[in-house]
Amino acid sequence: MKTALITGISGQDGSYLAELLLEKNYKVIGLIRRSSNLTRSRIDHLRLNKNLTLKYGDITDYSNLLNIISDYKPNEIYNLAAQSHVHVSFEMPFYTSNTDSLGFLNILDIVKFLKLDSKIYQASTSEMFGKVHEIPQKETTPFNPQSPYGFSKVFAHNAAKNYRESYNIFASCGILFNHESPRRAENFITRKISLNVARLKNNKIKKFSLGNVDAIRDWGYAPEYVYGMWLMLQQNKPDDFVLATNIKHSVKYFLEKSLQYVGIEYELVGEGFDFQVISKNGNTIVDIDNKYYRPSEVDNLQGDYSKAKKILKWEPKTNLDQLIKIMIDFDLENTT
Ligand code: NAP
Ligand code: GDD
Repeated sequence: MKTALITGISGQDGSYLAELLLEKNYKVIGLIRRSSNLTRSRIDHLRLNKNLTLKYGDITDYSNLLNIISDYKPNEIYNLAAQSHVHVSFEMPFYTSNTDSLGFLNILDIVKFLKLDSKIYQASTSEMFGKVHEIPQKETTPFNPQSPYGFSKVFAHNAAKNYRESYNIFASCGILFNHESPRRAENFITRKISLNVARLKNNKIKKFSLGNVDAIRDWGYAPEYVYGMWLMLQQNKPDDFVLATNIKHSVKYFLEKSLQYVGIEYELVGEGFDFQVISKNGNTIVDIDNKYYRPSEVDNLQGDYSKAKKILKWEPKTNLDQLIKIMIDFDLENTT
């Protein structure tokens, strides 16, 4: 039986990955942060599984990680823990860097120090491409990060490459483009839209506000992406892989498709800060609040996943319209 350590198990991806590994009969060790409120709602349904063990910890705490990794000697380590919100990273650059850069360095260095042959997955990101040098982006596209989150992830990505080349550590990085689900936190754009469109439909709110609706993203479905993470660690040698759909859409497109799906009739007026969505009764149901704009924006992400398709035999299956349906159906059902 293989043992896997998942940092960030309480997050969107961590919860889907835990399900996948438990189904594959792994013993799963999950790192959980102590907080004043429990943050385990995404993995509550797994808590009684005898193959799941949760340990308190924090990836910035070297001795805590050293104890856990030396006790369990995991065959696979998935580092999903991060301060993962780009906008928040501008407000908390030091906290973000400590977690997203040095936290991962702790893991690499502990595996080296203990002389383990653990295979390590690092959650790299399309945000590393930032203001993009080519479209679509692939593994060889130069990085040009535009946020503390982006530059912290570049540090970790480079650290994985260096430990791979210097010490023969098996460290693979998944450069994942945006992937979403009903488990996405409510302050990311897709879930913010699906939740608020469901609330509009159910007459719970009259209006909500967004930031830059012209930004373009390549959105996929999270459970398919965690399967790609697992595939990366089943290879014989470590490498880096883009996981994406290679199809891009604007935030405005996501919003319109969501309104259409629930049958709200609307009209779009204005551009930029003056953009509004007006209902058929003449009420403003969506407007722009500049507090949701970022000091620097990443505006054109589209990923070329052909390397993952060729080597991992990985491909995305769920298109954006299907993803919107999955998310809104969940939110219509659960919006109170
Ligand atoms: P998420 O929902 O925000 O989950 C982040 C997880 O990290 C949570 O479990 C959180 O714990 C944990 N965490 C944060 N700081 C920590 C620390 N110092 N020590 C230990 N745990 C800590 O993120 P996600 O969407 O699942 O993404 C997973 C990973 O993939 C992240 O590294 C993210 O940066 C990266 N990524 C995500 C995407 C995407 O589109 N989702 C794309 C590319 C890369 P709490 O529950 O206690 O907060
Ligand atoms: N969050 C948010 N809230 N974003 C908004 C809003 C709003 O009200 N209005 C417009 N946006 C725009 C953002 O400016 C950005 O261009 C786009 O919507 C997507 O924002 P997020 O959903 O917050 O995701 P992200 O692309 O910044 O980051 C996510 O994907 C990365 C991979 O590219 C996160 O999951 C990162 O952790 C991940 O690495």
